Amino acid sequence: MAITYNAENALFRIENARFSYVFFVNSKGVLQHLYFGKPIGETDLSSADLGWDWSKTYLSADGAEKIYEDNYYNDRSMAEVPSHGLMDKSGAQFVIEKSGGVTATSFVYKKHRIYDGKPKLSALPSTHGDNAQTLEITLDDVYGNERLLLSYTVYGDLGALIRNASIINCGKTEIRVKRAYSLGLDLPRSDFDLMHFHGDWCLERFAERKPLANGRFTVESTMGRSSHEKNPFAVLCDRHATEDTGEAYAFSFVYSGNFTLAANVDKWRRTRVLLGICDEDFSFALGSGETFEVPEGVLVYSDRGLGGVSRTMHDLVRNNLITHKKAKAARPVLFNSWEGCYLDFDTQSILAYAENAAKIGAELFVLDDGWFGKRDTDCSSLGDWFVADGKIDLKKVIDKCHSLGMKFGIWFEPEMINPDSDLYRTHPDYALGDGGYERTLSRHQLVLDTSRKEVADRLFKDMSAILDKYEIDYIKWDHNRNIGEITGSDTPYGEVCHRLILGTYSLLDRLQKKYPEIFFEGCASGGGRFDLGMLYYNPQIWTSDETDPVQRLFIQYGTSYAYPLSVMGSHISKNPITSYTAKGRIALFGTYGIEMNPCLLSESEREEVREVNEIYKKYHCEVIQNGDLYRLASPFEGNYTSMMSVSKDKSKALVLFANVLKENNRYRFIKLKGLDPDKRYSNSRRARRCVSLLWRAARAAATIRKAAAIPTAITTTTEAAA
Ligand code: DGJ
Repeated sequence: MAITYNAENALFRIENARFSYVFFVNSKGVLQHLYFGKPIGETDLSSADLGWDWSKTYLSADGAEKIYEDNYYNDRSMAEVPSHGLMDKSGAQFVIEKSGGVTATSFVYKKHRIYDGKPKLSALPSTHGDNAQTLEITLDDVYGNERLLLSYTVYGDLGALIRNASIINCGKTEIRVKRAYSLGLDLPRSDFDLMHFHGDWCLERFAERKPLANGRFTVESTMGRSSHEKNPFAVLCDRHATEDTGEAYAFSFVYSGNFTLAANVDKWRRTRVLLGICDEDFSFALGSGETFEVPEGVLVYSDRGLGGVSRTMHDLVRNNLITHKKAKAARPVLFNSWEGCYLDFDTQSILAYAENAAKIGAELFVLDDGWFGKRDTDCSSLGDWFVADGKIDLKKVIDKCHSLGMKFGIWFEPEMINPDSDLYRTHPDYALGDGGYERTLSRHQLVLDTSRKEVADRLFKDMSAILDKYEIDYIKWDHNRNIGEITGSDTPYGEVCHRLILGTYSLLDRLQKKYPEIFFEGCASGGGRFDLGMLYYNPQIWTSDETDPVQRLFIQYGTSYAYPLSVMGSHISKNPITSYTAKGRIALFGTYGIEMNPCLLSESEREEVREVNEIYKKYHCEVIQNGDLYRLASPFEGNYTSMMSVSKDKSKALVLFANVLKENNRYRFIKLKGLDPDKRYSNSRRARRCVSLLWRAARAAATIRKAAAIPTAITTTTEAAA
């Protein structure tokens, strides 16, 4: 890994074993992009951006028409920081309103430094880790007094480049940042397929791949969170790229709020990618001397197809993003109460749950929604973070869990408020939306204005009171609606969405510093906030509220393009389509947990769950949590879903194969990947048993299919040991 600057031709080169990224400072001081792709060493790129267009000359201050040097064309040369208000109309990275309403910006080079390490961002989650090198460049706007600090970080030989920027107002008067994207990237071609991951509640991250066409394609969220509907991750790849071959560029965002990820193909058939905070409803005032910090953007390059992109993303998330100290350690078998009883429980029933959860091997018992305020329905009590004394004796439940050898976890939904709550009755102003107008309720709740310090402080105090009083080992942090009206806040309108997220990050940060032993899982009605910003704080996220195992195949497969299995909350549930064994096979390709009424299980079902637990305990940490993922067959392309995960030392692997529409009497071959060609592997004994389980599942599935015409899943998991 090396970041170098060649003063002779003012050329920056960022290179490691996976990629080169090259740009230079042209004679006007503008940064011109040259190359991002396979490592190319010292290759001369001086002829890389030749072309012709009318904008090759300029009228200089002395009134003469002059020719730009360096093959620079103000409209079409590849830009490192796309300007605004000049000839380049392919999309600016920054739009800043200065005095008189002027918004033109052109940033020119002032100085740079290259250093080992990577600074943390002050109020935003950011990547981190040893073996980092950073290039920081200072640029000044020729049309105003704004200064830009650009940064580029590379971690060892990882195929990812982290980009960031800060805008500093060096002038005397206030400016308004109207757009502040984290990166712009020009690629001198457009013959790509674009892959993005869209969805809905219970349908998250469905992979869609289509040829990129002329024009602008945008993946965007204006929902106040990264959203179920769109995910801040996309890939541009060769049209013929496969899981293993072809070039691919991926883009991701360390942020959980509104975002824009756009690919613009222009008349030169160049592609400009822009990524950053969505500028709808965004306008941020910067006083003299103030700085605006943008979230980090992640660029990934792979010449090993989509699988290469994913493995790079997975390593980045696990090694350079997640901060929780327990993230790499083996995680306990988690039991969650939600699908078993929803809000309908009392102390006795939860004690019975705990006893039965322990019998099926749970090591962490999570009491989900319903333990606080007067929360007997989802119409009330969000905001009232005190124990519902008449409903649950929390201490008794926790003591019971501990006496059964289980840890104890609890659910919060801190950023929300029900109008039917004590908090709302005393502080209606804490909720977003102007009280003089109608406000949209979603799941009967409003959004708390965490952009206000007072509100975040109140949450910190109330949550701390619970965490100080009870022995809690785990928190599930939920968020069950999109942000609608953002009026009614003391925070200026254009700053609300961004400051809401900053407020949430700061609350998470304060709680995690105060309670470093508590493990956090994120959730937003399932996977409505599945992004790198949340993963910084929560080493796992509940992937989806959909627990139908067939749907889960799609959701988990789609999610795996960007996110490692180690972060994908995935449970065996009560869903009746297949056996617990079959559901367990799928749940094993995630964080793994159990979620149903454990008191209703038959002895043979208990036995099935215990067997899945055994595989989990034996292989999960090494193979799934910290191993390498290889996708073998995509549910988006055919009847089979198959993937495998291989331990980093390649001594063990787990393979998932699912045959969605039941096929009897067929041979099915799956070519394994990622194993060491010099090793001999054999199936474990349990794998042979899986064959008979497969047929049991098939028979059960066939019966259900006949009765309810539901697609069926047959799965088997093969363990291979070298
Ligand atoms: C939505 C989550 O995704 C569920 O798992 C559960 O925690 C409910 N919220 C509780 O209200």
